[in-house]
Amino acid sequence: MLAAMDEFQSALGVVLGTLERMRAGSGRWPRASREILARLQRPRIAHRQQPPTAAAGTKEERLAEVRARVAACTLCPHLAESRTQTVFGSGNIDTEIMFIGEAPGADEDRQGEPFVGRAGQLLTKIIAAMGFAREEVYIANVMKSRPDMPPGTAGNRPPTAIEMQNCLPFLVEQINIVRPKVLVALGATAVEGLLGTRGVMRELRGNWHSFHETPLMITYHPSYLLRNQSPSEKRKLWEDMLLVLEKIGHPITEKQRRYFL
Ligand code: URA
Repeated sequence: MLAAMDEFQSALGVVLGTLERMRAGSGRWPRASREILARLQRPRIAHRQQPPTAAAGTKEERLAEVRARVAACTLCPHLAESRTQTVFGSGNIDTEIMFIGEAPGADEDRQGEPFVGRAGQLLTKIIAAMGFAREEVYIANVMKSRPDMPPGTAGNRPPTAIEMQNCLPFLVEQINIVRPKVLVALGATAVEGLLGTRGVMRELRGNWHSFHETPLMITYHPSYLLRNQSPSEKRKLWEDMLLVLEKIGHPITEKQRRYFL
Protein backbone atom coordinates (compact mmCIF):
# COMPACT_ATOMS: atom_id res chain seq x y z
CA MET A 1 0.00 0.00 0.00
CA LEU A 2 2.81 2.38 0.98
CA ALA A 3 4.76 1.55 -2.18
CA ALA A 4 1.68 2.26 -4.34
CA MET A 5 1.18 5.53 -2.48
CA ASP A 6 4.83 6.45 -3.04
CA GLU A 7 4.49 5.72 -6.75
CA PHE A 8 1.37 7.85 -6.93
CA GLN A 9 3.11 10.69 -5.06
CA SER A 10 6.11 10.44 -7.34
CA ALA A 11 3.92 10.53 -10.48
CA LEU A 12 2.02 13.48 -9.07
CA GLY A 13 5.38 15.19 -8.51
CA VAL A 14 6.31 14.78 -12.18
CA VAL A 15 2.90 16.17 -13.25
CA LEU A 16 3.24 19.09 -10.86
CA GLY A 17 6.76 19.91 -11.99
CA THR A 18 5.65 19.86 -15.65
CA LEU A 19 2.59 22.03 -14.95
CA GLU A 20 4.70 24.48 -13.03
CA ARG A 21 7.31 24.76 -15.77
CA MET A 22 4.48 25.30 -18.29
CA ARG A 23 3.02 27.94 -16.03
CA ALA A 24 6.37 29.71 -15.81
CA GLY A 25 7.12 29.34 -19.53
CA SER A 26 5.77 31.28 -22.44
CA GLY A 27 3.49 28.49 -23.84
CA ARG A 28 -0.19 29.40 -23.78
CA TRP A 29 -1.69 25.94 -23.18
CA PRO A 30 -2.24 24.10 -20.98
CA ARG A 31 -2.06 26.48 -18.03
CA ALA A 32 -2.48 25.62 -14.35
CA SER A 33 -3.59 28.27 -11.90
CA ARG A 34 -1.57 28.85 -8.74
CA GLU A 35 -4.56 27.63 -6.74
CA ILE A 36 -4.76 24.31 -8.59
CA LEU A 37 -1.02 23.79 -8.20
CA ALA A 38 -1.28 24.49 -4.47
CA ARG A 39 -4.24 22.10 -4.10
CA LEU A 40 -2.41 19.31 -5.92
CA GLN A 41 0.55 19.94 -3.69
CA ARG A 42 -1.14 19.75 -0.29
CA PRO A 43 -1.58 15.96 0.05
CA ARG A 44 1.98 15.43 -1.16
CA ILE A 45 3.43 17.57 1.59
CA ALA A 46 1.21 15.92 4.21
CA HIS A 47 2.17 12.45 2.98
CA ARG A 48 5.93 12.88 2.75
CA GLN A 49 7.09 15.33 5.31
CA GLN A 50 5.73 14.09 8.60
CA PRO A 51 8.62 13.30 10.91
CA PRO A 52 8.40 9.58 11.70
CA THR A 53 8.47 9.99 15.46
CA ALA A 54 8.00 12.74 17.99
CA ALA A 55 11.10 14.57 19.24
CA ALA A 56 13.52 12.15 20.86
CA GLY A 57 17.30 12.02 21.15
CA THR A 58 19.93 14.73 21.25
CA LYS A 59 19.85 17.76 18.97
CA GLU A 60 22.61 16.15 16.88
CA GLU A 61 20.63 12.93 16.49
CA ARG A 62 17.43 14.72 15.62
CA LEU A 63 19.15 16.94 13.05
CA ALA A 64 20.92 13.91 11.56
CA GLU A 65 17.55 12.22 11.13
CA VAL A 66 16.09 15.27 9.35
CA ARG A 67 19.24 15.58 7.24
CA ALA A 68 18.84 11.96 6.08
CA ARG A 69 15.22 12.62 5.05
CA VAL A 70 16.32 15.76 3.20
CA ALA A 71 19.05 13.83 1.33
CA ALA A 72 16.50 11.23 0.20
CA CYS A 73 13.73 13.71 -0.66
CA THR A 74 12.26 13.49 -4.16
CA LEU A 75 9.29 15.75 -3.60
CA CYS A 76 10.64 17.96 -6.41
CA PRO A 77 11.71 15.17 -8.79
CA HIS A 78 13.38 17.60 -11.22
CA LEU A 79 15.60 18.95 -8.40
CA ALA A 80 16.36 15.49 -7.02
CA GLU A 81 17.50 14.65 -10.54
CA SER A 82 19.62 17.75 -11.16
CA ARG A 83 21.30 18.38 -7.79
CA THR A 84 24.80 17.21 -6.95
CA GLN A 85 23.73 16.87 -3.33
CA THR A 86 21.34 18.47 -0.86
CA VAL A 87 22.60 21.39 1.23
CA PHE A 88 21.18 20.98 4.72
CA GLY A 89 22.70 23.73 6.88
CA SER A 90 25.80 24.24 8.98
CA GLY A 91 27.12 25.85 12.11
CA ASN A 92 26.49 25.89 15.82
CA ILE A 93 23.34 23.99 16.73
CA ASP A 94 23.21 25.77 20.11
CA THR A 95 23.37 29.20 18.54
CA GLU A 96 21.21 32.19 19.36
CA ILE A 97 21.12 33.35 15.72
CA MET A 98 20.02 31.42 12.65
CA PHE A 99 20.52 33.00 9.20
CA ILE A 100 18.17 31.82 6.47
CA GLY A 101 18.89 32.29 2.77
CA GLU A 102 16.89 31.25 -0.25
CA ALA A 103 18.59 28.31 -1.98
CA PRO A 104 21.96 26.76 -2.75
CA GLY A 105 23.71 28.16 -5.80
CA ALA A 106 26.24 26.33 -7.97
CA ASP A 107 29.06 26.64 -5.40
CA GLU A 108 26.89 25.37 -2.55
CA ASP A 109 25.55 22.50 -4.68
CA ARG A 110 29.16 21.46 -5.37
CA GLN A 111 30.40 21.81 -1.78
CA GLY A 112 27.30 20.76 0.17
CA GLU A 113 27.47 23.79 2.45
CA PRO A 114 25.30 26.95 2.44
CA PHE A 115 26.72 30.35 1.58
CA VAL A 116 30.20 29.40 0.39
CA GLY A 117 30.24 31.52 -2.79
CA ARG A 118 30.66 35.30 -3.12
CA ALA A 119 27.46 36.09 -1.21
CA GLY A 120 28.65 33.68 1.47
CA GLN A 121 31.96 35.49 1.82
CA LEU A 122 30.08 38.73 2.45
CA LEU A 123 27.77 36.98 4.92
CA THR A 124 30.82 35.64 6.78
CA LYS A 125 32.18 39.21 6.93
CA ILE A 126 28.87 40.51 8.31
CA ILE A 127 28.83 37.78 10.97
CA ALA A 128 32.44 38.65 11.92
CA ALA A 129 31.52 42.35 12.22
CA MET A 130 28.77 41.27 14.61
CA GLY A 131 31.45 39.68 16.79
CA PHE A 132 30.98 36.01 15.87
CA ALA A 133 32.84 33.40 13.90
CA ARG A 134 30.76 31.84 11.13
CA GLU A 135 30.88 28.53 13.04
CA GLU A 136 29.21 30.18 16.05
CA VAL A 137 25.91 30.83 14.24
CA TYR A 138 23.71 28.48 12.22
CA ILE A 139 23.18 29.02 8.49
CA ALA A 140 20.50 27.34 6.39
CA ASN A 141 18.30 27.97 3.37
CA VAL A 142 14.60 27.62 2.68
CA MET A 143 15.56 25.29 -0.20
CA LYS A 144 17.81 22.31 0.35
CA SER A 145 18.36 21.63 -3.36
CA ARG A 146 19.73 23.98 -5.99
CA PRO A 147 16.96 25.18 -8.33
CA ASP A 148 17.78 23.53 -11.65
CA MET A 149 18.84 25.46 -14.72
CA PRO A 150 18.40 24.48 -18.37
CA PRO A 151 21.35 22.29 -19.45
CA GLY A 152 24.38 24.36 -20.40
CA THR A 153 23.04 27.50 -18.70
CA ALA A 154 25.11 29.28 -16.07
CA GLY A 155 23.75 31.25 -13.14
CA ASN A 156 20.96 30.61 -10.69
CA ARG A 157 17.20 30.97 -10.74
CA PRO A 158 14.96 31.75 -7.77
CA PRO A 159 13.00 28.80 -6.42
CA THR A 160 9.30 28.62 -7.28
CA ALA A 161 6.61 28.97 -4.63
CA ILE A 162 5.84 25.24 -4.87
CA GLU A 163 9.48 24.21 -4.53
CA MET A 164 9.68 26.36 -1.40
CA GLN A 165 6.43 24.94 -0.01
CA ASN A 166 7.87 21.45 -0.46
CA CYS A 167 11.07 22.27 1.39
CA LEU A 168 9.84 24.57 4.14
CA PRO A 169 8.77 21.81 6.58
CA PHE A 170 12.40 20.68 6.77
CA LEU A 171 13.51 24.17 7.78
CA VAL A 172 10.75 24.33 10.39
CA GLU A 173 12.09 21.09 11.84
CA GLN A 174 15.62 22.53 11.89
CA ILE A 175 14.40 25.66 13.68
CA ASN A 176 12.43 23.59 16.21
CA ILE A 177 15.51 21.54 17.00
CA VAL A 178 18.10 24.34 17.11
CA ARG A 179 15.73 26.78 18.85
CA PRO A 180 17.66 29.98 18.12
CA LYS A 181 16.62 33.19 19.88
CA VAL A 182 16.29 34.99 16.55
CA LEU A 183 15.97 34.18 12.87
CA VAL A 184 17.42 36.43 10.17
CA ALA A 185 15.80 36.09 6.74
CA LEU A 186 18.09 37.18 3.91
CA GLY A 187 16.22 38.71 0.99
CA ALA A 188 12.73 38.77 -0.46
CA THR A 189 12.75 35.17 -1.73
CA ALA A 190 13.62 33.76 1.70
CA VAL A 191 10.83 35.91 3.15
CA GLU A 192 8.40 34.58 0.55
CA GLY A 193 9.42 31.02 1.41
CA LEU A 194 8.99 31.62 5.14
CA LEU A 195 5.92 33.83 5.28
CA GLY A 196 4.27 32.95 1.97
CA THR A 197 4.03 36.60 0.94
CA ARG A 198 6.03 38.57 -1.54
CA GLY A 199 6.66 41.95 0.03
CA VAL A 200 8.76 44.99 -0.69
CA MET A 201 12.13 44.70 1.02
CA ARG A 202 12.24 48.42 1.67
CA GLU A 203 9.17 47.99 3.89
CA LEU A 204 9.88 44.57 5.36
CA ARG A 205 13.48 44.99 6.45
CA GLY A 206 14.50 46.54 9.74
CA ASN A 207 11.36 45.35 11.53
CA TRP A 208 10.67 42.43 13.79
CA HIS A 209 8.36 39.76 12.41
CA SER A 210 7.66 36.32 13.80
CA PHE A 211 8.02 32.81 12.38
CA HIS A 212 6.65 29.90 14.41
CA GLU A 213 6.89 32.09 17.50
CA THR A 214 10.57 32.93 16.93
CA PRO A 215 11.42 36.61 16.35
CA LEU A 216 12.34 37.11 12.70
CA MET A 217 14.46 39.98 11.40
CA ILE A 218 14.23 40.59 7.68
CA THR A 219 17.19 42.12 5.92
CA TYR A 220 18.80 42.33 2.52
CA HIS A 221 20.38 39.32 0.86
CA PRO A 222 24.18 39.73 0.71
CA SER A 223 24.07 39.26 -3.08
CA TYR A 224 21.89 42.38 -3.30
CA LEU A 225 24.69 44.31 -1.62
CA LEU A 226 27.21 42.82 -4.03
CA ARG A 227 25.11 44.23 -6.87
CA ASN A 228 24.29 47.50 -5.12
CA GLN A 229 27.36 48.90 -3.40
CA SER A 230 25.65 52.05 -2.13
CA PRO A 231 26.86 52.87 1.41
CA SER A 232 23.32 53.73 2.52
CA GLU A 233 22.01 50.26 1.59
CA LYS A 234 24.97 48.59 3.31
CA ARG A 235 24.34 50.70 6.40
CA LYS A 236 20.70 49.54 6.46
CA LEU A 237 21.72 45.90 6.60
CA TRP A 238 24.15 46.75 9.37
CA GLU A 239 21.44 48.56 11.35
CA ASP A 240 19.31 45.40 11.07
CA MET A 241 22.20 43.40 12.51
CA LEU A 242 22.52 45.87 15.41
CA LEU A 243 18.84 45.19 16.17
CA VAL A 244 19.61 41.46 16.17
CA LEU A 245 22.51 41.97 18.60
CA GLU A 246 20.27 44.05 20.86
CA LYS A 247 17.56 41.39 20.77
CA ILE A 248 19.90 38.65 21.97
CA GLY A 249 21.39 40.95 24.61
CA HIS A 250 24.84 40.93 23.02
CA PRO A 251 26.98 43.94 24.04
CA ILE A 252 27.53 46.42 21.19
CA THR A 253 30.75 48.45 21.08
CA GLU A 254 30.94 52.08 19.96
CA LYS A 255 32.99 50.90 17.00
CA GLN A 256 30.20 48.51 16.00
CA ARG A 257 27.59 51.26 16.28
CA ARG A 258 29.58 53.46 13.90
CA TYR A 259 30.47 50.59 11.56
CA PHE A 260 29.69 50.63 7.85
CA LEU A 261 29.92 47.35 5.95
N1 URA B 1 22.38 32.35 -1.66
C1 URA B 1 21.53 31.77 -0.78
O1 URA B 1 20.43 32.27 -0.56
N2 URA B 1 21.93 30.67 -0.17
C2 URA B 1 23.11 30.12 -0.35
O2 URA B 1 23.40 29.11 0.26
C3 URA B 1 23.99 30.75 -1.26
C4 URA B 1 23.61 31.86 -1.90
